[in-house]
Amino acid sequence: MDNYKLLINGGKPLIGETFVSGGKNTSVAVIPAALLSDDVCTIENVPDIEDVRVLYDILTMLGAKVDFDRQNRRMVIDPREVNGTKVDHRYASRMRASYYLIGALLGRFGEAEVAYPGGCAIGSRPFDLHIKGFQALGAQVEDRSAVISAKGKLVGANVFFDRITVGGTINVMLAAAKAEGTTILHNAAKEPHIVDLANFLNSMGAKVKGAGTDTIRIRGVNRLHGSTYAVIPDQIETGTLMIAAAATRGDVTIRGCIPTHMEALTAKLLEMGVLVSELDDAIRVRTVGAHRAVNVKTQEYPGFPTDLQQPMSAMLCMAKGTSIINETIFETRLKHLNEIARMGAHVRILDQTAIIDGVDELYGAPVTCTDLRAGAALVVAGLMAKGTTEIYEPSFIARGYEHIEEKLRSLGADIRRESL
Ligand code: EPZ
Repeated sequence: MDNYKLLINGGKPLIGETFVSGGKNTSVAVIPAALLSDDVCTIENVPDIEDVRVLYDILTMLGAKVDFDRQNRRMVIDPREVNGTKVDHRYASRMRASYYLIGALLGRFGEAEVAYPGGCAIGSRPFDLHIKGFQALGAQVEDRSAVISAKGKLVGANVFFDRITVGGTINVMLAAAKAEGTTILHNAAKEPHIVDLANFLNSMGAKVKGAGTDTIRIRGVNRLHGSTYAVIPDQIETGTLMIAAAATRGDVTIRGCIPTHMEALTAKLLEMGVLVSELDDAIRVRTVGAHRAVNVKTQEYPGFPTDLQQPMSAMLCMAKGTSIINETIFETRLKHLNEIARMGAHVRILDQTAIIDGVDELYGAPVTCTDLRAGAALVVAGLMAKGTTEIYEPSFIARGYEHIEEKLRSLGADIRRESL
């Protein structure tokens, strides 16, 4: 239970310029990857978010020397004194990406014992494909009492993912980087943060080719040296800010982003009648006329990102017409719409599909976050709504969005915290 709530007085257009922080889902993969190095690694553009602070605690507990300069977004990791290969429930349960420590520790030490991860309750979220990948590399893996234990000398192999998995692709890349021989990942995920991790590994001397395609080749090396590397900007924060700008009928320029990562969302916004201009490393979003209803089907990259489905669905609650959302990646990622219905939205949910009949107004109401991107959706709805919206359990939002309240306030939003 959080000891504060967010208060938003909505109905104000967001106007002005803001910037995107470094990527959450790339940072939580790159930071564990530094454990594979035989030397000091400096990671730049690391967002100051809860998930990164959890990884700071985990690496420190394992014996690494970690300095996180939050002001300058720089994390220096010296893994040379790492002597632990166990991550217990207290640490592992605080985030989803703690399971990347399996791949990193197995890759470096040939053993790992990591308790089950935490993370957003958006579906069953098994990790059977991660385990299958480790086993293909020759590890003995035991899954007992909510702990994954993996052990063995890793030898390169063919790994076929039964379905596209971002986490599985990342975890097996980490394990394979120093395996003996070549590993080929088939049906691999293609998200920008997969490419970012491959670039970081290669900057340390790894031999990873094909990241960004569905076939990734990793030639194992004996040694990885230190590196200084800046992670890419956050694709999902960029998209969330684009949606908030459009939803409030504002005019916002988002700097420090990579427009090509945003193409699926940009196409949908243009389809709605939103004006989107792409600059070199910035995107400008403006609204002039009515928002047309559109249909959204989430898919693996480069399709429409599931992480943007929730904030997008909030905006569609006031579009002209009926929108259909088909969430194909996670089984229960539409719960936030029940909260927005309390604000006057007309929504019907049938399994992984939502039918949204746009309304002319949403009205502020008390609502509760159920996960990180649900929180983002409730913020978008609150910014759109007439009157005051109270958002309970808002700490979910701080897990993945750096200083988001300050950024929205700088754009004219009336958003603040109030102690409970
Ligand atoms: C990552 O989750 C992201 N999290 C998620 O972002 C994101 O929604 C997701 O990728 C899809 O892009 C991090 O990067 C920390 P998956 P992950 O493995 O790796 C099933 C956010 O809001 N599956 O690609 O867990 C799984 O259940 C978070 O930032 C298996 O069946 O996603 C899901 O239905 C939320 N077996 C689908 O595959 C497995 O072994 C895709 O999952 C692994 C996954």
